[in-house]
Amino acid sequence: MSLLDVRNVSYRFSDGTYALRNISLQVSEGEFIVISGKNGSGKTVFLRNLNGLYKPTEGEIIINGTSVVENPYKARKSVGLVFQDADSQIVGQTVSRDIAFGLENLKIPKNEIKTRVRQALETMNLEEHADQRARTLSGGEKRRLTIAGVAAMNPSILALDEPFTNLDYPGVLQLLRILVRLKETGHTILVVTHELDKVLAYADRLVLFDNGSIVANDKPEAAVLAAESCGVRLPRTENGTLDIGAMTWLKD
Ligand SMILES: Nc1ncnc2c1ncn2[C@@H]1O[C@H](COP(=O)(O)OP(=O)(O)OP(=O)(O)O)[C@@H](O)[C@H]1O
Ligand SMILES: [Mg+2]
Repeated sequence: MSLLDVRNVSYRFSDGTYALRNISLQVSEGEFIVISGKNGSGKTVFLRNLNGLYKPTEGEIIINGTSVVENPYKARKSVGLVFQDADSQIVGQTVSRDIAFGLENLKIPKNEIKTRVRQALETMNLEEHADQRARTLSGGEKRRLTIAGVAAMNPSILALDEPFTNLDYPGVLQLLRILVRLKETGHTILVVTHELDKVLAYADRLVLFDNGSIVANDKPEAAVLAAESCGVRLPRTENGTLDIGAMTWLKD
């Protein structure tokens, strides 16, 4: 059974805009999936349907055997979504309080919260900012904070929406190392990005969105051939060939 089973999902906004058109996608536990597509192709709306923030107009989404619409609380626990816009995700006064907030909502015991907050600060290199007001962090630090907060909740599926935005070069490398470690420890990861050159080397699959539909869903070396027709830039080697294994900044 798939961990995530998206069945013929369409999503229409009240103004009539169809953001998703008959999307189907199955994801197994431990898969690392890169999702790409041009601006407005439906990627963010798709992620918001996964964790119950939006309800499909048609179709259904099953996570671990449970329908997201029937049990949105469980869906939010299962799918940790790191928003494209970090500001809208930060709720705590300080950096530590912000990470603790999500854990308190999950009713995790106080001692355990302390440990997880400490680990999250360390992993995302935010220890020196622990007591800083979260709103005063830089753009890249805010990005690291939102990733720390969601990863600390230990969701079954970690979904990151344009996680490389605002990160400097060391920040990108750090995030890639974290993603690789999460993948190696069996986590299921969805990364939405335009920047295939940073991360595609680690993907088990590449899914391309265009105009609300999935137009490619395959191993990266096969799906990547459709990227340019979907408005996604493809990095090529000097002789014009595609080298998926080189599409990561970790091997610079
Ligand atoms: N609240 C809304 N009301 C109406 N239309 C919306 C709303 N939110 C998003 N849309 C539309 O839905 C479509 C898909 O938007 P979505 O945010 O999923 O795109 P995206 O693929 O994430 O793009 P980007 O790469 O720019 O982040 C777009 O055409 C967008 O204008
Ligand atoms: Mg988006």
